[in-house]
Amino acid sequence: MAPKPLPFLCFSLLLLLQLHFSAAQGVVKGGYWFPESEFPLSDIDSTLFTHLFCAFADLDTQTNQVVVSSANVASFSNFTTIVQLKNPSVITLLSIGGGNAPSSTFAAMASQSSSRATFIDSSISLARSYGFYGLDLDWEHQTMDSEMASLALLLEEWRTAIDAEATNSGLTPLILTAAFPYTPRINSVVYPSASISSSLDWVNVMAYDIFAPDPSPITRSRAALYDPNSEVSVSYGVELWIQSGVPSTQLVLGFPFYGYAWVLVNANDNGLFAPSTGPDTAVGASDGTIGYDQITAFISQNSATTVFNSTFVVDYCYAGTTWIGFDGTQTISTKVSFAKANGMLGYFAWHVGVDSNWVLSQTASQAWGA
Ligand SMILES: *[C@@H]1O[C@H](CO)[C@@H](O)[C@H](O)[C@H]1NC(C)=O
Ligand SMILES: *[C@@H]1O[C@H](CO)[C@@H](O)[C@H](O)[C@H]1NC(C)=O
Repeated sequence: MAPKPLPFLCFSLLLLLQLHFSAAQGVVKGGYWFPESEFPLSDIDSTLFTHLFCAFADLDTQTNQVVVSSANVASFSNFTTIVQLKNPSVITLLSIGGGNAPSSTFAAMASQSSSRATFIDSSISLARSYGFYGLDLDWEHQTMDSEMASLALLLEEWRTAIDAEATNSGLTPLILTAAFPYTPRINSVVYPSASISSSLDWVNVMAYDIFAPDPSPITRSRAALYDPNSEVSVSYGVELWIQSGVPSTQLVLGFPFYGYAWVLVNANDNGLFAPSTGPDTAVGASDGTIGYDQITAFISQNSATTVFNSTFVVDYCYAGTTWIGFDGTQTISTKVSFAKANGMLGYFAWHVGVDSNWVLSQTASQAWGA
């Protein structure tokens, strides 16, 4: 066959690129929902989101198929229908894995070509049969070079399978995303940015819990946008992702709709980096986690003092010896402005069930604008 003239090739390439990324055009105003939050699916104000992630489908370690636990079938299979009642154009994605799913099971699946194929094919069938528009991988998380190599193959083969399925079915290709840590470098191990960029529509950057719990605790944000004194911050992680080769247009900034409660050593020493005896488990969960809805209740019930520190970009509040660092309205709007100013594709929240009367979701949506 004679080679095609160059202008035609260029045009085809352009068309292909456009088709490939059409699903990702515009902004991502995202949020995750999961059933264990006990937040009713039908109560989500989906008008505040462009994308909603239903979390989590599971990897069946016996069959390597993606499955939904029987307890979740009713909500997951109706997820799209229900959230589209209030916003018919909201796009839904099925998330697979999550922080409680053992990383080793994903590593085992991804290490073999046959199990990758089973996983990929079952994920596409499941997404189609439940009416999702896309799939989101939450394998948390890879720690070895061999796992990064498996991840690269998994993503490349997944993209190929998604494109083939769309061609065969005549349907719009499923969106493919993954949630990765705030930095693409974990010790000396790095994420396969070329495969990520060529295979995924975008990366959900989990820019929270960026510190492990502190053995000698001090009050702090675990999702500070900036840190003038260290390289552990949201902005630094995003910068590293861009430097690694994933363009900002394929990065979506995650922020937490929860904070951490700490017990102060001294009620009068109540700023950032104040001595603490550890998590406040009377106010928060066993690790101090506390949702924004409970934080606002704590503030009003205890007439807590609230502070926004613009150097680190963190909200905190304190009353007595309880200190809570969190992403409040000022932190959220500053982070959304940061994402937009840096050319990122959008933002997402973990998780919509702990917003307080949609205040944070509204703040984020307005801060980005139309
Ligand atoms: C959810 O889906 C199931 C089928 O999977 C159906 O029987 C049920 O009526 C649906 N529930 C709602 C609330 O739509
Ligand atoms: C934020 O907190 C740090 C640490 O206490 C302090 O040095 C800095 O001045 C604060 N920034 C603002 C704007 O208050």
